[in-house]
Amino acid sequence: MSIPYHRILVTGGAGFVGSRLALGCREAFPELTVIALDNLKRRGSELTLPRLRSGGVEFHHGDVRTLEDIERVGPVDLMIECSAEPSVHAGYGQSPQYLINTNLSGLTNCLEHLRRTGGDLIFLSSSRVYPIGLLRALPLVRDADRLTLANGTSGDGWSPAGISEDFPLRGSRSLYGTTKLAGELLIEEYRSLYGLRAVVNRCGVIAGPWQMGKIDQGFVVLWMARHMYGGRLSYTGFGGNGLQVRDILHVDDLLDLIMIQAASGSRVDGCTFNVGGGTDVASSLAELTRSCAQITGNSIDVSHVEDTKPADIPWYISDNTLISRTLNWAPTRGIGTILGDIARWLRDHRAELEPILA
Ligand SMILES: NC(=O)c1ccc[n+]([C@@H]2O[C@H](COP(=O)([O-])OP(=O)(O)OC[C@H]3O[C@@H](n4cnc5c(N)ncnc54)[C@H](O)[C@@H]3O)[C@@H](O)[C@H]2O)c1
Repeated sequence: MSIPYHRILVTGGAGFVGSRLALGCREAFPELTVIALDNLKRRGSELTLPRLRSGGVEFHHGDVRTLEDIERVGPVDLMIECSAEPSVHAGYGQSPQYLINTNLSGLTNCLEHLRRTGGDLIFLSSSRVYPIGLLRALPLVRDADRLTLANGTSGDGWSPAGISEDFPLRGSRSLYGTTKLAGELLIEEYRSLYGLRAVVNRCGVIAGPWQMGKIDQGFVVLWMARHMYGGRLSYTGFGGNGLQVRDILHVDDLLDLIMIQAASGSRVDGCTFNVGGGTDVASSLAELTRSCAQITGNSIDVSHVEDTKPADIPWYISDNTLISRTLNWAPTRGIGTILGDIARWLRDHRAELEPILA
């Protein structure tokens, strides 16, 4: 595979996804200049800096909220936009300013830089663009330790294969989801007015080593870390039994996809894809607890919180049909690989990770 780029900027490049993409691109194409820009807001992102350095990725300490910080990087021919306040709970009970300024104004600065200097865009959007009310209204039934769609049911943009790009967009979707959808709309305008070439990936849950999992974002790593290092966990919402389901995408599967998209150039320009682990890599929290206990040999008493938070949803699985048909991509790493890779990483880097994740 070859890609038509020489100089790539990964914003949020010290974060979980950004650092994996930056290092992976550089590893696959050593002749590329790959730059990671990050303000190191996410606790633990500083641990990535030596990895970026030894992987040949240039690091720029900068903030996407400040256009001059991005301009200082100079022209790039591809930007992979991974900077964000990534929590769906951000802004509830606190100011949404940081979220909006980073996810929306920051993206506008990224688009401005591309408008002025040229360059294509790969944008990491989110499954959270789909409205909470409509997702909560899906006909779900309890099946052993998880919720599933009632037998034989399907509707507008949803089926046993998951949620597709045709799922309706009416209704509230969290402030985080709104910044992502508004970002997608801005990208469309930059495409139409200024000829930007861009592809949008609406990702479900992504997991893997180097994710600094916390209560409000990165629950797969958090779950495994608590089982390994100790600490408390709770099932929150939808009755408090841990039946809510998500599909999980290994970050290396995402890297494979981003490389294919980078190599595809204008073929994916203007496309919006749902991207996730899909039905085969879906798990409920209760099932995740069982898997983590098996892998670590440690059991945790998970407490039950019945109240559902405003942004919580009971079931989300990405329908990968469109992306698979368009680019012949499908995730290849199953739940065993994802959890095994995370457990190994937590074990191998315990001294530096425990203060952050325990
Ligand atoms: N991880 C997931 O499950 C998931 C799912 C769907 C979408 N996404 C999207 O993928 C992207 C990457 O997410 P992630 O999981 O790597 O999160 P992350 O928090 O690990 O990475 C985001 C990085 O952005 C940096 N950042 C925050 N504010 C910034 C600012 N103002 N200027 C510069 N850098 C800033 C943080 O320090 C962090 O290193 C985000 O856009 C997120 O919304 C992630």
